[in-house]
Amino acid sequence: MSAFDYREGRLFAESVALEDVADQVGTPCYVYSRAALTAHFKGYQDPLAGRAHLICYAVKSNSNLAVLDVLARLGAGFDIVSAGELERVLAAGGDPSRIVFSGVAKQAEEMARALEVGIKCFNVESTAELERLNEVAGNMGRIAPVSLRVNPDVDAGTHPYISTGLKDNKFGIAIDHALETYQRAQALPYVQPIGLDCHIGSQLTDIAPFIDALDRLKVLMATLAEHGIMLKHLDLGGGLGVNYQGETPPATADYINALLEHLDDDTLELIFEPGRSIAANAGVMLTRVEYLKPGETRHFAIVDAGMNDLIRPSLYQAWQGIVPVDTRTPRDSQTYDVVGPVCESGDFLGKDRTLAIAEGDLLAVQSAGAYGFAMASNYNARPRPAEVMVDGDAMYLIRERETLEELWAGESLLPEEQA
Ligand code: LLP
Repeated sequence: MSAFDYREGRLFAESVALEDVADQVGTPCYVYSRAALTAHFKGYQDPLAGRAHLICYAVKSNSNLAVLDVLARLGAGFDIVSAGELERVLAAGGDPSRIVFSGVAKQAEEMARALEVGIKCFNVESTAELERLNEVAGNMGRIAPVSLRVNPDVDAGTHPYISTGLKDNKFGIAIDHALETYQRAQALPYVQPIGLDCHIGSQLTDIAPFIDALDRLKVLMATLAEHGIMLKHLDLGGGLGVNYQGETPPATADYINALLEHLDDDTLELIFEPGRSIAANAGVMLTRVEYLKPGETRHFAIVDAGMNDLIRPSLYQAWQGIVPVDTRTPRDSQTYDVVGPVCESGDFLGKDRTLAIAEGDLLAVQSAGAYGFAMASNYNARPRPAEVMVDGDAMYLIRERETLEELWAGESLLPEEQA
């Protein structure tokens, strides 16, 4: 669904005019739609109804407390990768027993905190991590539930920076070594293997790599069973792509159903870790045109949001739609590079965009709900933007714009020189 559409020439989020949001909170700001988040989450929930499952929203994609709250109320679990994400989920009222903990570099303190609150499972990415987890759990007199994140060596056919299932990625345990690592886990007293996990990459627009991975995991599960290692859940990770620029990823239900058709075991609990497919198209970023700067070879629309606010275009050459928020006043159209205030040539939100705009106009960068604010920084001493959640005709400020003072909170000057 799209919660963002034009009504009589003005762009709305649900029943709220985006212009009104900008007037109230300023720009740049992120605006999310509760209805879109809900619909995207239900896209997973509905086809899985009737079988054991858990949809663990990937917190890294958008970790605002209100976003987590909306999803927690729908029964979501959470995929976390740090102590910070763990505390965010808890602060938002998420259920710790529905948390899976991914990531290659879990520290002992993070493990201890996750054990203390009783998370569902650790997605373990190496033998060294397994040994450390065993030690931490042993010191606490606990048994840590684990899944091994296996690297099935399939090519997700996505951007190299977000492809994670190939042999030469840092992620997971090579599938050829999975049996011996499970056996090691069985032998350790304070970890208990309960699941199998994989995540092959992000922004996948084709079902085939997911099925390839599943087929390999099924073979592995059969081998594990022959060795007496019986697992309760299969975590197929996240990765389902979205439409940014006319991509045609499968509908969530089609993706789930295709996987279900390839599974003969209907008692196994299925876990998914979707991030982008829930949050990306549930959000836009609003930015205002500061200057139009004509050039000899290129024309620039200089806006008040930069790579520090939304880094995907700069970092991945990602394409995201950029549209005017109010189209009622006729304007000349021109092809622009839409660039930000940051002092880097790589600071752009879009290139070669044909736009009918003037100084002071408001633009919406589309599909910005995932890996948008979550990747924002303070580069160039720029405060991070505000975030707003729209729900029907109501809007809620869910994160205030950072203040300038907050930029140096925690910093200090050196002591006075001693004479
Ligand atoms: N599970 C694990 C273990 C992951 O590493 C990720 C994403 C997900 C789940 C969620 O994947 P999703 O459903 O969102 O594709 N910053 C990049 C994307 C990085 C994805 C990292 N891992 C971007 O803006 O495109």
